Amino acid sequence: MTNKTVKTVVFPVAGRGTRFLPATKASPKEMLPIVDKPLIQYAVDEALSAGAETLVFITGSSKRAIEDHFDTDAELESVLQAQGKEDLLATLHGILPSWATCVYIRQSAPLGLGHAVLCARPVVGDAPFMVHLADDLIDASVPCLRQMVDVFAAQGGSVLGVQPVPPQDTDKYGIVSLERQLGPRIGKLSNIVEKPKPAEAPSNLAVVGRYLLTGDIFNDLAKIGRGAGGEIQLTDGIARLLKRQPVFAYEFEGKRYDCGSKLGYLQATVEYGLKHPSLGADFAVYLKNFVSTF
Ligand code: G1P
Repeated sequence: MTNKTVKTVVFPVAGRGTRFLPATKASPKEMLPIVDKPLIQYAVDEALSAGAETLVFITGSSKRAIEDHFDTDAELESVLQAQGKEDLLATLHGILPSWATCVYIRQSAPLGLGHAVLCARPVVGDAPFMVHLADDLIDASVPCLRQMVDVFAAQGGSVLGVQPVPPQDTDKYGIVSLERQLGPRIGKLSNIVEKPKPAEAPSNLAVVGRYLLTGDIFNDLAKIGRGAGGEIQLTDGIARLLKRQPVFAYEFEGKRYDCGSKLGYLQATVEYGLKHPSLGADFAVYLKNFVSTF
């Protein structure tokens, strides 16, 4: 019987973010802000709204700022208190609700996403859990992981968040093929492959950084060897899992920004800036004037 309660989320945050060097030399790429919130805060907010209570961060070197971000800063709070800056104090208190627990696990070597997820096994155990890649920022009226929890409850098997990508980009993603379509947005997987060349890709439906997996995946991750790029791939673990139990692809509603690329990051910054409650109107005026001078 599948346990339909999903209380744990895993954030693999050990990657060094070399595409953003030098910004990411001493600071985690997950701390890059979109307007005024770091990427990892968007990730945590999404997972909390999907019901997560235990947040497992798989970290590496130069990632201490993430721990500091989700910890209390008594010194800063007392300064703000003394200055009567209640609004900023409320912002700090809103970073993490008191009922959420953060767990930090070091990934001792950069052996890949599958290995990073396997590092969470002692905390997750056998229960289903979510995996969130903070590089993939998804703007949606119902948060993407929330949508996926509902699909999981209805289907009773692992769910991958997918979107179509341009056919020439398949070699950047895990690409799924479907055995059959179960609804307009849901299909049952027949296979998944990591970063196939466009000519070899079974489709253009790509996994974009959201997974809801049964705890059984750990048995598969423990058994697979190195795959694409010489790394232990989560995709290969899922390919093994789906031989034993159904896995579903869910085309979520929402707009995804690839914040692991500079262009995607800038697009997110502009669009979130335009939607920002206190900044959006002024930013729109600025942007219109600026663009008209081009
Ligand atoms: C990882 C996964 C890949 C997935 C992608 C989504 O790749 O290995 O299957 O499609 O995230 O962003 P990465 O971007 O870490 O190379």
